[in-house]
Amino acid sequence: MTVKSIVINFVCLFIVAPVASVLILWGCWVLIPDPPPPPQTSAAIQTQTFIRSAPHTPVSGRTVYMANCARCHGASGDGAGTEKLDRPARSFLAGGFSFGNTPEAVRRVVQHGIAGTPMPGFGRVLNAQQTAAVVKYVIAMAPPVPAASGDAQLIVADRPLVVRGMLSARGAWEENEPRGVMLGGTDGLTLSYGVRDVQFRAARQGGFVKRTDWEGRGGTPLSPTGRLIHWVMPNPVFTQNGVAIPAQFLGTSTSGGAASLSMKLPGATIRESGDAITHATQTGYRRTLEIEGDASEIDMALPSQGALAYLGQSGPWQWWRDGEDLVGAKGMASYGDQTLRLPASGTVEIIVLPAADMSSAAGEGIPIGGAT
Ligand code: HEC
Repeated sequence: MTVKSIVINFVCLFIVAPVASVLILWGCWVLIPDPPPPPQTSAAIQTQTFIRSAPHTPVSGRTVYMANCARCHGASGDGAGTEKLDRPARSFLAGGFSFGNTPEAVRRVVQHGIAGTPMPGFGRVLNAQQTAAVVKYVIAMAPPVPAASGDAQLIVADRPLVVRGMLSARGAWEENEPRGVMLGGTDGLTLSYGVRDVQFRAARQGGFVKRTDWEGRGGTPLSPTGRLIHWVMPNPVFTQNGVAIPAQFLGTSTSGGAASLSMKLPGATIRESGDAITHATQTGYRRTLEIEGDASEIDMALPSQGALAYLGQSGPWQWWRDGEDLVGAKGMASYGDQTLRLPASGTVEIIVLPAADMSSAAGEGIPIGGAT
């Protein structure tokens, strides 16, 4: 034997042969079809079959929701979970996704959370299927909103709408309000509020809102499409012994034709809603505050642009004049030049007749006095 043939024999015996036989064995294993499944005679076999196909089993959005979200957002999605938070988690039932209601926008929120709020990101907890399933589940909880994409315009049709997002500054004296809410009633009235301390900002009539950043994170303000009929100066709304007490926003709801928001003050909760009204011949709007608990220590500033003067009483209403506008109120415990003292509980109504016709108002019994 030459050295060359020894080397060849060696290579064949110890390298080529084992590799070849491994390849042949592997080929047999891959190519030979699986034995046909045994007849499914027992439950055990069925269970096994089910487990093997698990990766293709649809993930239940409800299961993911109950396990990960319900403790904050509530089992029914009403925002009333068991977890104590410094602010309410979103009620999905009222709609109003401030970060967008497309699957893509909601997925982003669920994956990344919302900075500066208790809403955590689930990017590391949920896989893609689980995320998609819970996003679908959460969107389906909300009332149907006209599909919003691009610069969608929302119009209130046969049910009230709530939308959250950034509100534009009303003048040079203030900045954009990043946390705002707009309530749109079926009567065409839109009321906007800053959410942080629940400050009423403006009333509009006509359209509702157009938003351009459903896919973003509230980077551009909502643009209301209704006509501005009234706005108020950004002053503290509620005070106790002369000290401002910011109201805590609790959430929004819709019932009947109106949307409402709820807020918490020391000792009391207030639910506020609005509607368009006609007082005698003057058109305007009314805000109705339903008070529960005991608010009898709390003063509320009348909505004003800074020129309030008390006029007098007419029937159940007390009246003020504010520049071109008339402001009426009833249901309060008492009143001052600029403020109302809230009752312990019950209903306070505030009506505003913007740009009122003073002479016909005088003819209709509103105590305009000498003012014309
Ligand atoms: C620890 C409490 C907590 C948990 C758990 C939680 N959330 Fe939230 N979530 C919040 C809070 C609080 C907010 C409101 C944040 C804010 O102030 O804007 C919120 C907001 C949201 C929003 C934004 C709504 C909007 O306005 O656009 C979505 C969507 C959402 N949560 C989905 C989920 C889903 C889905 C889960 C479960 C996978 C979940 N959340 C679990 C607390 C929680």
